[in-house]
Parts: sequence; C-alpha cells; structure tokens
Amino acid sequence: MAQGMRKGLTRYGDPEFSLFLRKAFIKAMGHSDEALSRPIVGVADTSSDYNPCHGNVAMLVEAVKRGVLMAGGLPMAFPTISIHESFAHPTSMFLRNLMSMDTEEMIRAQPMDSVVLIGGCDKTIPAQLMAAASIDVPAIVLPTGPMLVGHYKGEVLGACSDCRRFWAQHRAGKLDLIEVNRLTERLAPTMGTCMVMGTASSMACIAEALGIALPGSASIPAMHADRIRLAEATGRTATEMAQRGPQPADLLTPAAFNNALTALQALGGSTNALVHLSAIAGRRGIAIDLDAFDQIGRKVPVLVDLKPAGQHYMEDFHHAGGMPRLLREIAGHLDLSTPVVGGGTLADYVAGAEDVPGQQVIRSLANPVSATGSMAVLRGNLAPRGAVIKHSAATPDLLQHEGRAVVFDDLEDLSARVDDPMLDVRADDILVLRNAGPKGGAGMPEAGYLPIPKKLAREGINDMVRISDARMSGTAFGTIVLHITPESAVGGPLACVRNGDRIRLDVAARRIDLLIEDDEMAARMRDLAHLARTTPDRGYAALFDREVLQADEGCDFEFMRPRP
Ligand code: FES
Repeated sequence: MAQGMRKGLTRYGDPEFSLFLRKAFIKAMGHSDEALSRPIVGVADTSSDYNPCHGNVAMLVEAVKRGVLMAGGLPMAFPTISIHESFAHPTSMFLRNLMSMDTEEMIRAQPMDSVVLIGGCDKTIPAQLMAAASIDVPAIVLPTGPMLVGHYKGEVLGACSDCRRFWAQHRAGKLDLIEVNRLTERLAPTMGTCMVMGTASSMACIAEALGIALPGSASIPAMHADRIRLAEATGRTATEMAQRGPQPADLLTPAAFNNALTALQALGGSTNALVHLSAIAGRRGIAIDLDAFDQIGRKVPVLVDLKPAGQHYMEDFHHAGGMPRLLREIAGHLDLSTPVVGGGTLADYVAGAEDVPGQQVIRSLANPVSATGSMAVLRGNLAPRGAVIKHSAATPDLLQHEGRAVVFDDLEDLSARVDDPMLDVRADDILVLRNAGPKGGAGMPEAGYLPIPKKLAREGINDMVRISDARMSGTAFGTIVLHITPESAVGGPLACVRNGDRIRLDVAARRIDLLIEDDEMAARMRDLAHLARTTPDRGYAALFDREVLQADEGCDFEFMRPRP
C-alpha cells in the first residue's frame, strides 16, 4: 500500500506527475526531500474562536508535532469543523454528523499514515470516533482536557451542573441578575471542557476505555503541563502507529464497545454517550443492544463520585488515578484482552493504574456511589424502541411515580407556556415535551431538562418527572426520561399523549406507560397518521431530515453506515 506523500494522489491520469506536482507545492512550505520521505502523521486541528473548550488546541498541536518529529515522522496539521455546545444553532447534534463526514473525508483525501484527532467539546470526540471507525488509517484521540474548577462565595463550582443549579435559583426568584452576571465569570474559569461528568468527560473517558487514547488522556486538566507532555507522547505514539498500527478496526470491536458501555455505567456518565456509542459502533456494523446495556447497569454500580451524580470534579478524578484506576476497579466486568493504541492490551493499561492512598473519588465495588449503574433503559407503550433515564442523577422518590400529563407540543410551545401563571400544573404532574427528537427537533436538542414552571419553582419544587424524545446535557440532573423512540415526529406514541392523561414511570420495572386502553391508543395513532410535517427543502438541513436515524441507532445518517 502507498505510504507518505504517495498516498491518495490527486488523479490526473499520470501518478508520477501527481507526485511531482504535490512535492512542488508542498516545498513552498520549506520542506526538504528528507522530511517528505518520513511517515506522515496528520493532526486534526479543531481550534476555533467560537470554541473555548478547544482554546488550548494550538498548544496541543505544537506538542504533538514535537512528539512526531522526535519519533522520526512528519507532522501535518489540518483544520476540520469545530463545534461548541453554546455556539451551534439549532443544536450541536445537528452538526455532529457533518463534522464526522468532514473529518473522515479530510483524512481520506490528504496523504497521512496515521492521524491524531484533537477533540473535546461534547460532539467533537464522537464525530472524530465516527470518522475513525470509517477509515483504514491508524487513529489516536487526544482530548483537550477538562477546565479547572471555579469558586464563588466559598463554593467550588463546575460548568455546567452549577450553571443549571444557579439558573434554577434565578427562576425561583432567589438569585438576582447582578449575581447571575458575576457567575458568568466563575463557572468556566479556564479553557477546556466542562469539568463534571458531562458528555465531554464521558466521551473522553470512553476513548480510553476503547483503547484509542493514552492513559490519563481524559482527565489531565486542559491547562496542566502534563497535558502538553501527553500531547507529545500522543505524537510519538501516532508515529509508531503509522508503521505498525493498530488500525481502528482492530480497536473498535464488540468487546471494546462492551468495555465502553461498562465504563459508562460505572462513571455515572452522560446519557448522550449512549447515543454516540451507538453511532460509532454503527459505523463498524455493530449494533449496541440497549437491553444488554441495562443488564450491565444492574451488575456494575456507579463508582465515580463526580457531579452531577456525586460531589467531585474531573481534576479530582485525575488526581485519584483517572480511568486506569476506574477500569482496574471494574476489571472483573471487562474484556482485558482488547488492544490499546500504545501497544499491548487493556490488561497492560490497567496494570499501570496508580494507587492513591485515601482518595475518595473512585470507589470500590464494595463501597459504590450508588447501588446500580448510572442509566436504565425503559420500555413500555410510550417507548416501544426504548427510552433512557439517568437514575443516578434523579430524585429517588420519583423513580416510581404516576401523574397527570402536562403536554407541550414543541420547544416553541414550551417556551410560550411553561411560565404562564395560568398553566394548570402541579408538582406531582408529569411534564411531556414532544417534537424534540432527531427529526422533529432538527437534531434532538438538549431540551429534555424541561424547566420547572416558575410558579412551582418559587414554591421550592426543584424536580418533577419530565419525559421527552429530546436529549439532555450530561451535566444536568433530575428525574428525566429521554430519547423516547420512535420520536413523536415520525409517529411515535408520544405524539398521542393528551393533557390530563395518566402516565406511569416505574424505573424498577423499567417501564414508561401511558395509562389508556390499547384500542384507545390505536385509535389515537390512526388519527395522527394523516398529519404531515413541514420538512426543510434544501441543503444540509434537508439531508439531515431525510437521512437521520433514531436515537437507538445513534442518530447517524443511514448512508454513512456500512452496507450489510
Ligand atoms: Fe464544551 Fe461543555 S460546553 S464541554
């Protein structure tokens, strides 16, 4: 197979001319023939002025390049799309698949013998792993790393679990706008990703569990000197991988995905990670079995005491030993024979775990944070293909609950009515949001954390059962049923819930049900069948709407998955 500069030549009908032209142009950058004869390591540069979670990427690229040069390779950085959660309209999830396609095609189009994927903010590592799963180029992930914690009036803060907590206090009339503005300078005090166990942290940890990132990659703080050294080591490793692999196909196997799902339960990780893992596995033709994931959660408890389910932050997790230490705790539930990028297997990776006497952040199986894993998969007449609840971050008393449905038809309806003083809503009701799924919400926005209606928030109500076909931020908390599949916009049963219907949530039995007779449900579904939906008529939005799959299939595009 062609290597280095000979790889993927532009097609003019004369390969030697293609190589001649390529060399003539690249020499404009001052490269020598000796430099151009080395293995080429691509470095995906996702820096962007719109992405503070990637604010350290320039520094990381420089260190990766140093590592590549030290190992005898030629580093070639190239830009790809960068996505930040708060700067992506209509939602970052709408752009994840586009970023994965951009990353895949740029790796395919440009000559490189291996690639370092620098990602961090929620959708970026998933997009890069989806790309890696689709190519035959050795790939290694380098996360940007978590922010350091913030401080406010003697409290330690973390974006964005505390963003939501303080905003809820503001909605309840307990925090004025002057304090809210002060908090905008305290919640995200450094560059890097959210420092709680949100989606970014979950996906960085999962990259380690999959064996596609070096030990410590997920948890070294973004601004710590160790992250620069890690970047250098990642460059060195990528150069070795250019010659000996492993290929993504060697790493992203059913056993590795099983390890990742097990780690996700023990981490108290983000519900979004389940969608992303389904998409990444789907790119390799592997189906994630939601019921098997639920079974893992019955055996593997949450061991990591991090917000939003626990107390601590990513820097604490790192100083307690990070992912190698966690995986050592759950080694009995893992397949340790899976290969890892640095060479050897997950058994070697786990053997390198550091012992930190007295640390309180990574618990043992005998002393877990919660008795079960972080997530449960629900089924029932409202969710024939499944729904997810992060019960580790829910109110225990609400996990078995029956209540009256208060229905919002879409996000516009929610924002127009949720704070209306005339809204007929009580604390024991169940808030329902529909048309917020992959198609109906144009990318399944993180709207599943429905705000508590102001009039209840002011009475001190801080949690209610909320159900939707949306996602929620991994940094959020509450008794929230998400990813109801199929979504209402494609005729899922959520579409036929009416105000005042009774709904029963029973997490112990893994059920979410609308309490009406089957024939009434069938009649309502028939009534819905004639309703047409407005769809985008051009561009990426039209492609997205036509091709996006449901949450249980990772919201990937059908055509991006391998043909059976
Ligand atoms: Fe980027 Fe939280 S907003 S990781």
